[in-house]
Amino acid sequence: MVDKYAVLGNPIAHSKSPLIHEAFAKQTLQDLRYEPILVPLDGFATTVQDLIAKGYKGVNVTVPFKFEAYTLADERSIRASSAGAANTLIFDGQHIEADNTDGAGLVRDIEQNLALTLSGKRVLLLGAGGAAEGVLQPILAANPALLVIANRTLDKALAMSSKAAASKMASSVIKVTGCAFSDLQGQQFDVVINATSAGLTDTALPIPDTIFSEGCLAYDMMYGRETPFMAQARANGARVADGLGMLVEQAAEAFYLWRGVRPQTQPVIAMIRAL
Ligand code: ATR
Repeated sequence: MVDKYAVLGNPIAHSKSPLIHEAFAKQTLQDLRYEPILVPLDGFATTVQDLIAKGYKGVNVTVPFKFEAYTLADERSIRASSAGAANTLIFDGQHIEADNTDGAGLVRDIEQNLALTLSGKRVLLLGAGGAAEGVLQPILAANPALLVIANRTLDKALAMSSKAAASKMASSVIKVTGCAFSDLQGQQFDVVINATSAGLTDTALPIPDTIFSEGCLAYDMMYGRETPFMAQARANGARVADGLGMLVEQAAEAFYLWRGVRPQTQPVIAMIRAL
């Protein structure tokens, strides 16, 4: 019997995950099926139990179920625990293991595909919601010299930076701070990552033009459109990337967890970009 996987979300029709996983399976000669499932807002746990009963091997989880997926699991990776959310579940009989591959996907896209090593760099993370939380631990593990978390609501940035500072390795020399957007005046960064959802409504962030250092990478975790953040970064000479590479890399990491095989991501990124 062919191994079955799915992506669970609401909405789900827009998801590129089935295309990505089908491409990975074809490339690595893995015999599997991967389908999108629209889950009722109050039906996540029952859907998961139903899929386990039907012999599914695992699922990806997207909005709005990442927190519920984390809670439902019997066992959680450090990456999932740090994010308090899961985007990948691995089923072993009735046992559910939760992981979060979003941050690993982001760091891999930056370090491998965009060829920028985060170690020793000054990194600015914009936003302190679920998306930012999900990538925090892998960014810290990549050992930047400085991580500043800036958010519209200052308290959330401070809470997240305190948590990050407390969680980082004792030997680490990473300086972690939280601030409001207005506090960024006079500061410069090598990498600026937009993890806010402001781009969804085409809203510009009140960030100074001067934060982008010479040769800076500006990375928007959104994909599929030029956000005001990307336009501002481009106008200030930054190298700009959207979140498509992260999308494919987080999928590759999930595929690896399920199948023990790491697919090549470059051709799949190119395929999705060409759609
Ligand atoms: P997600 O799961 O996409 O991270 P979220 O947890 O609701 O969604 O977080 C959204 C993030 O985008 C938050 O950091 C939010 O800032 P606040 O904490 O102040 O709400 C940020 N955000 C959303 N719209 C924004 C806007 N128009 N300007 C600035 N920040 C915005």
